[in-house]
Amino acid sequence: MSDKPKVPVAVLISGRGSNMGALIAASLHRDFPAKIVSVISDKPNAKGLDHARGFGIEAVAIPRTDYASKAEHEAAVIAAIDASGAKIIALAGYMRLLSGDFVNRYVGRMINIHPSLLPAFPGLATHERALAAGCRVHGCTVHFVTEGMDEGPIIEQEPVRIERGDTPDTLAARVLEAEHRIYPVALAMLARGEIRMTSDGRAQYSGS
Ligand code: GRF
Repeated sequence: MSDKPKVPVAVLISGRGSNMGALIAASLHRDFPAKIVSVISDKPNAKGLDHARGFGIEAVAIPRTDYASKAEHEAAVIAAIDASGAKIIALAGYMRLLSGDFVNRYVGRMINIHPSLLPAFPGLATHERALAAGCRVHGCTVHFVTEGMDEGPIIEQEPVRIERGDTPDTLAARVLEAEHRIYPVALAMLARGEIRMTSDGRAQYSGS
């Protein structure tokens, strides 16, 4: 068993929260190096909030509509993250574009899961676009968050083969299973200090 204190993590969601659930499940293992201390949603009805509360994790909604500006909303989210003591921020289906100030405050400590093999298909509707492009392989990526959308240095990926007859939904379901595998792996690597983001914006593995 590891005696090291677990690194506190805040997870930001907007909806279902299945990746958040995968992080919580992993964090319950004694040797997992991180623990989820806070879940924050910009949507009050996000399913993930109740799921997190079921594990005794503080889960709060900070709706964008409660604030006059994006800057004020982000200030409230930052205040909640910092009050929780989180050292790592994991975006898990958080559907808001973050300002440069927000991103730079947590640079190297904020990660995101994206449903494609980046740099292919940043943005939305990734499964539809992979099918329309005739890809034979699709997948998912965990990356550091930088100012450019879905552009940060890659930490972990898993490929998913596209099968004949796949629809966006069947493909999304298999990619989601892969997401649930790689997100805890990537979070553990970051929490253990096995990977870091360099000042010139690369992901560097310890020893490399
Ligand atoms: C996932 O596909 C994730 O990659 C993307 O948004 C979706 C969130 O799903 N960023 P969930 O809320 O984690 O179930």
